[in-house]
Amino acid sequence: MNQFGENVFILDHPLITHKISILRDKNTGTNEFRQLVEEIAMLMGFVALSDLPMTKVPVETPIETADTYVIAGRKLAIVPILRAGLGMVSGLTALVPSAKIGHIGLYRDETTHKPVEYFCKLPNPIEERIIVVCDPMLATGGSGVDAINLIKKHGGKKIKFVCIIAAPEGVKKLHEEHPDVQIYVGNLDRELNKNAYICPGLGDAGDRIFGTK
Ligand code: PRP
Ligand code: URA
Repeated sequence: MNQFGENVFILDHPLITHKISILRDKNTGTNEFRQLVEEIAMLMGFVALSDLPMTKVPVETPIETADTYVIAGRKLAIVPILRAGLGMVSGLTALVPSAKIGHIGLYRDETTHKPVEYFCKLPNPIEERIIVVCDPMLATGGSGVDAINLIKKHGGKKIKFVCIIAAPEGVKKLHEEHPDVQIYVGNLDRELNKNAYICPGLGDAGDRIFGTK
């Protein structure tokens, strides 16, 4: 258990932390940055999906009938928060190729730092699926909270939130507003600065993934 309580998992895994350290470097270029985000998403997904429910299926091996286990229930939904969350989708779908993909479009207003919604399309029936929301950055927590509000409004229930770097302020807010949501954090950083950027962070994840500025 950490300072945030149940349902918050700070991974701090050497493989993940090593890759995040390269992401943090301002000299890491777009191509490598994008590749690393995909790899980190895959590593984090492996952990975040370790409690997927399984169901028993009999299979004829060349030797005998075996009780084998496969993932139970409806196909998973992966929901990136646009834009930066898109960078994590390929890593997560590599683990679960049959997953459905929803999209939530939010951007942070530059002066208020509050999220503004511009798109929402989720796979149906969303209420029967395990939903993995992904976004590399959890800063104030505003975007994460709003994304999950939207998913719940559409009926979503079983929700996991996977982010690469988080500020303590964002984890606290997201956990307080949605204590039922499992939050997976690659590295927990120190704090937010006056522009609500994560320190030390990695800068603007969307701009670094897409090569915009
Ligand atoms: C970034 C990031 C998160 C959000 C985090 O997106 O990808 O969605 O900010 O900040 P918060 O926790 O304070 O809400 P941004 O709004 O920059 O949009 P982009 O992904 O399109 O660049
Ligand atoms: N969004 C980012 O991309 N980076 C931050 O540090 C905060 C919000």
